[in-house]
Amino acid sequence: MNQKIISLLSQFISIQSVSTDNKRKGELLRAADFLTEYLTSLGFQIHRYKKDQSPPLVVASYTCNDPRAKTIGIYGHYDVQPEDPIGEWESPPFVLTKKNGKMYGRGVADNKGHIIQNVVSISQLIDTKKLRNNIIFIFEGEEERGSSSFEKCIQEAIEILSAVDVFYITDVGMYDKNVPQILYGLRGIVYFELILETGKLDLHSGVWGNRVINPVQVAVDLFSKIKNLDTGKIMIPGFYEDVKSFSKTERKLLTHVSRSDNDQKEEAATYMLMSLDKNQPYLSAKIYPSLDINGIISGYTGEGSKTVIPRKILVKFSTRLVEYQKPEKIIGAVSKFVKKELPESIKYQLHVLDSAKPFYTDFKNPFITKTAKILEDVFGNKTRYNRSGGSIPAAEILERLLGKPIVLTGFTLPDDRIHAPQENFDEEMFFKGIDAFQKIYSARF
Ligand code: BES
Ligand code: MN
Repeated sequence: MNQKIISLLSQFISIQSVSTDNKRKGELLRAADFLTEYLTSLGFQIHRYKKDQSPPLVVASYTCNDPRAKTIGIYGHYDVQPEDPIGEWESPPFVLTKKNGKMYGRGVADNKGHIIQNVVSISQLIDTKKLRNNIIFIFEGEEERGSSSFEKCIQEAIEILSAVDVFYITDVGMYDKNVPQILYGLRGIVYFELILETGKLDLHSGVWGNRVINPVQVAVDLFSKIKNLDTGKIMIPGFYEDVKSFSKTERKLLTHVSRSDNDQKEEAATYMLMSLDKNQPYLSAKIYPSLDINGIISGYTGEGSKTVIPRKILVKFSTRLVEYQKPEKIIGAVSKFVKKELPESIKYQLHVLDSAKPFYTDFKNPFITKTAKILEDVFGNKTRYNRSGGSIPAAEILERLLGKPIVLTGFTLPDDRIHAPQENFDEEMFFKGIDAFQKIYSARF
C-alpha cells in the first residue's frame, strides 16, 4: 500500500511544474492532467477553469450521499518553485529520493506531498466506505507566482463552491515533529521590480567615471534610504500606518510557539539574526510587515575584472503585509518614495509583479476545534495556534468570496527547506498525516 502511495508521489514530483518558467507551461498542464485523471478514476466530477495565460484551476467534486454530510473544500497548488541553484542539490530535484527517513524533491513539501496525502486519504475512505463528507478539491497551478487569476477562476466556479461548509488549506508545516499546529494568520505580499536606466550605453569606467552617474550606486543609495540596517525599520513614509498595535492576549498565546534565538539561527543556518521585536524576536516575521530585496541584476558578474559603468540595473524586492494593511496603499507609498528619492533625469520603471492581501481569521469555530482534537490524538501532542510570515493568496480570497471557515494546517517540518535545495518531507509525518486526514474527512461536524 505505502509503496503505491510513494510511486504516485514520485510520478507527481517528476513533472517539472515550475510556474514562473514560461518554457515549462506544458509541464503545468501535465500536472493538472495527472490530478484530473487520478480523481476521475476515483469517481470525481471535474471542472477546469482558465483565465488569460494561467494554468488550469482544477475543481473536482464527490458527493457521498449521506444526509448528514458536510461539504469540505480542500485546496492545494500543483505548481512548484524553480529548482535553482541546481548545483546545490544532493539528489536530482525532480526525482523523489529517500534518505534517512526523509523524502527529497522539488515540491515534495510545497505542496505536492500534501496534495498526494489528501487525495490518497480520500481514495482510501471511498474504498472502505468510510467517507462521511462531500469533497471538493481546488487545485491551482500558479500559487508560486502570485495566484493572479485565482480570484477570477473562483468567481466562475462560485456556484459549485457555494456548497462548501469549510475549506482546508494544507500548504504549511507542523510546529515540530509530532507537534501539530493550525495557523490563523498569514502575511500579504506586494512584489516589485524596479528598473533604473541612466543612459543608452555601457561606458568605460576610466573614461567616464566622475562624469556619469552609476545606476548601481543610485540603487544602493535608494535602498539604504528604504531600510535602516541597524533597526530593521522601513523608512518609507506611511509604511506602518495601518499596522494596529498587537494585543497582549495574542502575544501571550504566541508564547506557546516561541523559538529561542539559537534555534532560529540554527534553523536558518544564518550567521546573524535581526529583530524588530526586542521582547520576543521570533515574532518579528509574524506580526510586523517587512521589505526585502530578492535579487539584483546589473553590470559585470563574470570571471576576472571588467571596467565598466553599466547603463541599467534591475532590482526585485517585495514587501510582506500584516492584517489591516492594504496592497494598494503600500504600492502608492512605495511609488511615491521611489519617485521622490531618485535623481530627476534617471529613467525608471516600477512594476508590481504580484500582490495578495493578508489573511487573518478567527480560530474559534467547531471545525477548527474538532480538527485540533483529531491532530492531537494522531500525533500525541497538543495542537498549537500560530501565525506565519509566509503568504498564500488563496486563503484570503476563499475566505472573502465564500465566507466560510478556513483551516490552515499541514505536516512538513521546520527543516523542510521549501523554495531551496534539499526540499524534503519527513516520511513518518507524511504517513501520519494521511492518517490524520482520514480521521478529519470522515468526522461528523
Ligand atoms: N506554502 C508557502 C507559504 C507558506 C510557507 C506559508 C511557510 C506558511 C509557512 C507558499 O507556497 C508560498 O511560498 N507562497 C509564496 C506566495 C507568493 C509567491 C505570492 C510566498 O509566501 O512567498
Ligand atoms: Mn506552497
